[in-house]
Amino acid sequence: MEVTETFAGIALPGHLHTQESLGFAAAFTFRPTDVLIATYPKSGTTWMQEILTLLFSLGDARPAKTIPNWERAPWLEQIYCRGALRDTETPRLLTTHLPAHVLAPALQRSKAKVIYVARNPKDVAVSFYHFHHLAKFLPDPSSFDAFLTQFLEGTVHYGSWFDHVKGWLGQRHLLDILYVTYEELHQDLRGTAQRLSTFLGCPLAPGTLAALEQHCSFSAMRDNAMANYSLIPAEIMDHSQGRFMRKGVVGDWRSHFSPEQNALFNRRYQEEMGDVELPSRWPMA
Ligand code: A3P
Repeated sequence: MEVTETFAGIALPGHLHTQESLGFAAAFTFRPTDVLIATYPKSGTTWMQEILTLLFSLGDARPAKTIPNWERAPWLEQIYCRGALRDTETPRLLTTHLPAHVLAPALQRSKAKVIYVARNPKDVAVSFYHFHHLAKFLPDPSSFDAFLTQFLEGTVHYGSWFDHVKGWLGQRHLLDILYVTYEELHQDLRGTAQRLSTFLGCPLAPGTLAALEQHCSFSAMRDNAMANYSLIPAEIMDHSQGRFMRKGVVGDWRSHFSPEQNALFNRRYQEEMGDVELPSRWPMA
């Protein structure tokens, strides 16, 4: 049975969060060397965790193959309950799905670096819909149509995609933040890894890019139990309902959206994002 926890106006899975764990995240003392991956769910979080693991290990795949991703780059909002902070490591790699308004004050007090990963919201909606079947901590989705309505209204868990992206973009001049899209990772993983290495001040050792390309491919991650969530017990993720590493493609929305759903989505997108200056635009047609 799914339980909801509401924090700062956002509905979150109660199985993963408590008011204490969320309060802990909001008041977190970041170190200047910390690196935070911030995403709306289903935007490429796990992919970025894997890429940064390989970058910081200078291409050594052993950490990625032996330590689960949620320990390598723990969720800030779950640290209080899980105690999974790898405190002796530099940099500490952290992950969050929380909106910017919750974390911005703590981040602005620090020099921590933030990597914000965004994905075409149509593909996010499709991926999130399928994930609701698998994740027992999320409400049972009824139809795709009903889910899409909730997604556009921002009444799904983790709140509105539009608010999330606009909130983090709004921190562009206040935080040390790099904006990356899921689609860029697809199109040019090497180039994006180089951009990440420059932003993070983490030099690329010879061979790192080749190792990164190999271990961060969809097929390698799908088969890596430390990245594919297959270790999570069935009462939390029902693996008979689908795989976390589902398809990993760009544009899957085209095989899910009806023309009416697409028109509705485009209208809503235009209302919310029409005036927003995005670092890159997604093809919405
Ligand atoms: P799909 O459901 O569309 O397949 P997150 O980690 O933020 O929850 O995002 C999960 C989505 O990212 C899933 O999308 C998953 O397949 C995709 N993904 C994870 N690793 C990937 C990779 N190496 N290449 C392409 N897509 C990947």
